[in-house]
Amino acid sequence: MFGTYDVPDQRNLLDQTRQGIIGKPLDRPEAALKVTGTATYAAEYRPENCAEGVLVTATIAQGRVLHLHRDEVLSMPGVLGIFADKRMLRRPAQGTAGQAPVQDVREVEYYGQPVALVVAESFEQASHAAKALRIDYAPEGDVPFDAGKAEYESGQKPVILGDLDEAMASAAHSVDLTYTTEGHASAAMEPHASIAAWQGDVLTLWGSFQMISHNVKELADSLRISPRNVRIISPYVGGGFGSKLGISHDAIAAAIAARELGRPVRVVLTRQQVFDTIMRRSETRQRLRLAADASGRLTGLGHEAWVSNLPGEKFAEPVTQATEFLYGGENRKLAVNVARISRLTSGSVRAPGEAVGMQVLEAAMDELAEKAGLDPIELRKRNLPASQPGKDRPYSSRMLVEALDQGARAFGWDARKPRPCMRREGEWWLGMGVASAARVNMLRPASARVRLEADGSLLVQSDQTDIGTGSYAILGQIAGEMLGVPITRVRVELGDSSLPSGAGSGGSFGASSTGSAVFRACEAIRDRLAHRLGIPVEALELRDGIASGQGRSRPVTELLQGEALEQVGRIKPGKTQMDYAQASYGAFFCEVAVNAFTGETRMRRMLGAFGFGRVLNAKTARSQCLGGMVWGIGAALTEEQSFDLRDGRLLNHDLAQYHVPCHADVPALEVILLEERDAPASPLQAKGVGELAICGAAGAVANAIYNACGVRMRSFPMTPDRLIAQLPDPIARAAD
Ligand code: MOS
Repeated sequence: MFGTYDVPDQRNLLDQTRQGIIGKPLDRPEAALKVTGTATYAAEYRPENCAEGVLVTATIAQGRVLHLHRDEVLSMPGVLGIFADKRMLRRPAQGTAGQAPVQDVREVEYYGQPVALVVAESFEQASHAAKALRIDYAPEGDVPFDAGKAEYESGQKPVILGDLDEAMASAAHSVDLTYTTEGHASAAMEPHASIAAWQGDVLTLWGSFQMISHNVKELADSLRISPRNVRIISPYVGGGFGSKLGISHDAIAAAIAARELGRPVRVVLTRQQVFDTIMRRSETRQRLRLAADASGRLTGLGHEAWVSNLPGEKFAEPVTQATEFLYGGENRKLAVNVARISRLTSGSVRAPGEAVGMQVLEAAMDELAEKAGLDPIELRKRNLPASQPGKDRPYSSRMLVEALDQGARAFGWDARKPRPCMRREGEWWLGMGVASAARVNMLRPASARVRLEADGSLLVQSDQTDIGTGSYAILGQIAGEMLGVPITRVRVELGDSSLPSGAGSGGSFGASSTGSAVFRACEAIRDRLAHRLGIPVEALELRDGIASGQGRSRPVTELLQGEALEQVGRIKPGKTQMDYAQASYGAFFCEVAVNAFTGETRMRRMLGAFGFGRVLNAKTARSQCLGGMVWGIGAALTEEQSFDLRDGRLLNHDLAQYHVPCHADVPALEVILLEERDAPASPLQAKGVGELAICGAAGAVANAIYNACGVRMRSFPMTPDRLIAQLPDPIARAAD
């Protein structure tokens, strides 16, 4: 019961329980705290005698720090110390513990890298002193700032099947297209922040993290101390999107300074520092080759990507991740190549891989559909393999056809004009586009404790984080459903490393993984309750605090006899992860208006239909889909990191200049949740949803732009300056 998940759990137990709360659109239990500003975020704790630290960042791109003019600053009012300890981070960690980073902040690898921490009595004093700190540098190094000047190396093992060149040469229909996407920032609302306090050898760190059990190890690694001496507290997280998978500069700097000064130290990154130092999604260049026979069946599929990162970083944006399993085509070439450049670290930004890979694949599919004379939905349906190409393993479940069909009906896809430039309203060309959604599904090791109190109420505990996703809500729903406890009597405690290790929040695996641990803990408690009632557990029904079955019925509190029942549940990924191709699926439909004179694109309508196994909470799941689609609109139309090619510095490092979509950019979005059960994915029959609704969304927008005005955009984001040069003559074409 507590081991690896090797055999799909086909019982669908959560369909037989009777509490009636699983899947329901219940409010988050912490919602009122958040909307009234009373949920405490990392920077808001008030330990006594806390000093304030501000990081100083490099104003060169590469080289060495020769000298910090400490004395000039140490005499300034309130200044307590200047730290440039070797252990401080040059690069943020990536949620992968166990790699003690050899990082010396006196070596500069990219513009804006933290090189020192100034600590003072007040934030204002620390900021002032940090600005005043003069630093002598020795600029050196020749890592290019631009992938165009860099050498590429292989970023992942390529997939090569059959002969793609031959398939292209003999195809009835084919496309060979190159696309570019620009870098993205995670742009979470809450900046990275840490407060460190030591009691003897034990560090308490209030921070903002996604993966606490990894983050404890990363902190311990960097500080060269035992993980047993680190406690992280992170109950509320104002968005992560990958940027808080690992620890960042603030955490180590605060811990080092606090130890040295013998008092708590707070370090909060400025918005600009978050953009400059945390993590970027790599820009990409992608070549798509699609070969099809006369009926539109794929015979060849090539997806090659070129991305970038700092020298030595293991991460390469896994652009082709969904291409590996989504469509057929027996002749394949999938590859990711990475250039070594001097820009801030690239790493996981929401839906790493698929976010940019799917949008391009889906744009290319639209071009192939046109060449093959097929409706783009029909082309996709014709190319869904029975098993994963090259691996010959079945899909655990796949609601893609349902998503395309139901989405098309609900959206009114029938009204789409088959050719571009056929709908015009004043200055605006109108058009519709479609794209598939796909994102890999992962189960991760997780544990959680469930305690059925003597009074019949429930306590659920895990270090699982809630980064705005709904973990508090859904973990409570799973436990309440399994043990027949009304949701008002369920308490959930998360985000503290002293609790059992959940999976953390990343890769859309938090809900299904930590939820499965809760499920298993509850199963063990159900066994014990059934035993006490004297019936087999298969006959046990728990509802509103009453245990019944086989003609017997007793209040649960009586079975408990004044004592709580407590259980830690565990799950580990097992054979089901290898035996099945696991992913969540969906489809996007959108209608855009493109201004015939300015090239401005406005989203008119957007609909997504998504299948991701059991829906654990219809409200939080829908919110995840809405958020994903908003990301998709950003990737399509506005989001773009701009770098200065002279020194690799990020130019648009705040929310005024890095344009995430705002309310005026986003119309009312419609989300259809397709219920399904995916037993190989998890004992909950649930898969990941967090990142799904980004993956392909921008492709639907590109396809809608083409349908509107006849311009095939192959560089994202599709800003007016990129579009306008290719627009048809607005006057001449107006009469079409
Ligand atoms: Mo996600 S980018 O794995 O938080």
